Amino acid sequence: MAAALVLLLPFLFSYAHSLPSSLLSDFDASKPRHSRLLKSALQRQISDEQQAELWTPLSNQGWRPCARPYSTLAALPEKSEGYIQVFLDGGLNQQRMGICDAVALAKILNATLIIPHLEVNPVWKDSSTFTDIFDVDHFIDVLKNDISIVKEVPDEYFWSTREYYATAIRATRVKTAPVHASAYWYLDNVLPILQTYGIAAISPFSHRLAFDNMPDDIQRLRCKVNFQALVFVPHIRALGDALVSRLRYPRDTTETDDRNYLTKVTDLKDTKGAGKFVVLHLRFDKDMAAHSACDFGGGKAEKLALAKYRQVIWQGRVLNSQFTDEELRSQGRCPLTPEEIGLLLAALGFDNNTRLYLASHKVYGGEARISTLRNLFPLMEDKRSLASPEERAQIKGKASLLAALDYYVSMHSDIFISASPGNMHNAVEGHRTYENMKTVRPNMALLGQLFLNKNLTWPEFETAVVEGHKGRQGELRLRRPEQSIYTYPAPDCMCSSIDI
Ligand SMILES: *[C@@H]1O[C@H](CO)[C@@H](O)[C@H](O)[C@H]1NC(C)=O
Ligand SMILES: *[C@@H]1O[C@H](CO)[C@@H](O)[C@H](O)[C@H]1NC(C)=O
Ligand SMILES: *[C@@H]1O[C@H](CO)[C@@H](O)[C@H](O)[C@H]1NC(C)=O
Repeated sequence: MAAALVLLLPFLFSYAHSLPSSLLSDFDASKPRHSRLLKSALQRQISDEQQAELWTPLSNQGWRPCARPYSTLAALPEKSEGYIQVFLDGGLNQQRMGICDAVALAKILNATLIIPHLEVNPVWKDSSTFTDIFDVDHFIDVLKNDISIVKEVPDEYFWSTREYYATAIRATRVKTAPVHASAYWYLDNVLPILQTYGIAAISPFSHRLAFDNMPDDIQRLRCKVNFQALVFVPHIRALGDALVSRLRYPRDTTETDDRNYLTKVTDLKDTKGAGKFVVLHLRFDKDMAAHSACDFGGGKAEKLALAKYRQVIWQGRVLNSQFTDEELRSQGRCPLTPEEIGLLLAALGFDNNTRLYLASHKVYGGEARISTLRNLFPLMEDKRSLASPEERAQIKGKASLLAALDYYVSMHSDIFISASPGNMHNAVEGHRTYENMKTVRPNMALLGQLFLNKNLTWPEFETAVVEGHKGRQGELRLRRPEQSIYTYPAPDCMCSSIDI
């Protein structure tokens, strides 16, 4: 049941965007909600020890990516059983998981994979293809000993298109794959189609391959796709590298010549955290705010607007709205506002020299809502502030490429913190686990309770936050049944260095 709800959420959120824009307009939401804490946070003094500890990379936890496939993975079949075609919906990170599952499925069926088709998402409206986002030659090359891949639908199956499947019931379309279907389901239901027609088109395919009871070599193949075969196209990597370098070696504002860029780095070494940066993934859009049914301090106007929005979109189907704000907060069910995330980061020990990269699309309430966070972290940057107009032109309006760039920068940061559960959060957290990189997981229930207590002093808040985030900095957690292998790559794809 819980899993089903999680799956539904993206669709609920997407639906919102087909509404008239009058419902989407922003309200002024600039007044700090926790002014007392904020005042102290702005004057925070952070000890050198705390700083040093904060920026220390994770120590070796005894796990690393498994060096070799588990068994001698079955080689390429002599004869392919046919072609597998998948149509993937969702945002970039959901599609990414679909791609990994498609490779695994092609292996299970001894089929040839046609490069997956990425559907245009109704929210983000980006028509970028697989090849526009990922380095397709690298993808094929890395997997060449595992499965056969073709870039296009072969000529003999030219008719097998999205349009063909949209207009009538077709024998080669697989429409009924259950959520988290087993390998046997595909062997029973899809292999016969392949054998009869030579091709099977599976849609929907997102979340359609189980995480449990899969052969070990299939699990490792999924990870190999996710962590090795899928790399972004060269221009995204180059732009990502440029942004990372600008974050690490901030430009002297009087210096305009890029070639002298690195030489202008002045004595950064002595300051703790110098040359380092945090990525903050912040998703605080209206859908999310409204869906949570929490109060975000924007006053009556905002409350009314969110209630109306909820009514129009979900017609009372939002279960949360039966709880009071206080109940929701103490259960940790309210998304953190940018102000609250700022207070969390400040309490964790990030000072106002911290370079913060904001990985985010749009924030409900706009710049007004972000201003408090910016006051706490004046060196806050994002794609827009760091990239030149020419650089931005290559990715402008392309949600998938923008998301790819944020993903790339997130994977190159010293610390990643995500204030919003969801696909991006899970994808980056899993990938950073695989690389043993620091990731802060906000303790939502604790923070909800702390923010409810208006009498809390800064030292009390700080102590509680630090205590409540021990063991939440990227310490490895083993995957439990039903959890995603892409969020929790150990133990399926990581080997303990002790029993290797
Ligand atoms: C950072 O905080 C200190 C006080 O803790 C203050 O003196 C300084 O002006 C602040 N710097 C910026 C850039 O806001
Ligand atoms: C796939 O090929 C391997 C090795 O050639 C074989 O052992 C396996 O049974 C085949 N599976 C299917 C579903 O055809
Ligand atoms: C906060 O302080 C006020 C006045 O000092 C007091 O009445 C109230 O009970 C306190 N609230 C909490 C949550 O401690």
